Amino acid sequence: MPLEIIRNDITKMDTDAIVNAANSTLLGGGGVDGAIHRAAGAKLLEECKTLGGCKTGEAKITLAYNLPCKYVIHTVGPRWAGGGRNEKALLESCYKNSLALAKKYNCESVAFPLISSGVYGYPKDLALKTAVDVISGFLLKNDMTVYIVIFDKDSLIISEKLFSDIKEYIDDCYAESHFDGRTRNILFEDSCMAYSASVSLPKITKLSELDSRLAEIDESFSQMLLRKIDEKGMTDSECYKKANIDRKLFSKIRGDINYKPSKPTVLAFAVALELDLRETDEMLRKAGFALSHSNKFDIIIEYFISRGVYDIILINEALFTFDQSLLGA
Ligand code: APR
Repeated sequence: MPLEIIRNDITKMDTDAIVNAANSTLLGGGGVDGAIHRAAGAKLLEECKTLGGCKTGEAKITLAYNLPCKYVIHTVGPRWAGGGRNEKALLESCYKNSLALAKKYNCESVAFPLISSGVYGYPKDLALKTAVDVISGFLLKNDMTVYIVIFDKDSLIISEKLFSDIKEYIDDCYAESHFDGRTRNILFEDSCMAYSASVSLPKITKLSELDSRLAEIDESFSQMLLRKIDEKGMTDSECYKKANIDRKLFSKIRGDINYKPSKPTVLAFAVALELDLRETDEMLRKAGFALSHSNKFDIIIEYFISRGVYDIILINEALFTFDQSLLGA
């Protein structure tokens, strides 16, 4: 997954680079800055002293010393002053300049904290939106794995309205599935027995008949995916980047007509292609899956698709909030 939102301590990340939310002196501080300096050891401060500070929105790189990553990219976020002092543009620059440095140093992976959302008071939902927008834009043109590392859960807040809406939808679906599931299973078993008793299934007499039946197997998941990309007038890379799927995995799917994807991968493509629920069910079925009302992950995906909301980052934020795995692969 090119962009992942995860909960962790950034000092534990073994990505090629981690980003530090520093101050303009680059001589350490509290928050993530303090955590990084403590974990890296005194040599980090020694190197920082040679950099001559850093302006807000700019970024500078050092080695990582005792940290598990190779580099630390130090950037200085804006202090929130209500939004009227160019804070958004400065925060965007932090991400853009940090990503440019990571690319310059051939980093294949980089981890960001939520810059400015702590001591500097930037509203966390706005800080996250800026981070996701800039990183997603970068990933449309560059191959890199980028993590947004959320240290405390309340840093990632989807709006209260959306949270309660989804919670209500989940409760309704759970209630329905536990009620209907029971009756549905009984009904389903009864109808199967009734069906098999009422019809004599045609006996396959010759192998050639079996061959012709197998030949009727309809298109595979991979074939349907490529067909839908064409129908939507998308390029392959537009589709897999929008699905937050890395290029290597897409090449495997394109190269193998019978490729068996995971369920989150199928759903990530369904969202990227903006399929409705019927088409989503069809694509899932071709990969051997079905949406289930006894599975919170599926219910949340169904919630968004049934409302025509295909923003995969918003969906992943909601999945993250409900402690579910994220879409993509
Ligand atoms: N790993 C990941 N994220 C962390 C960690 C950690 N170990 N510690 C804190 N965070 C998160 C905070 O929860 C917050 O969401 O990093 C985000 C940024 O918070 P701050 O570290 O306070 O950074 P910022 O808001 O940009 O303020 C920078 O604070 O620490 C000082 O020297 C720093 O003066 C500078 C100012």
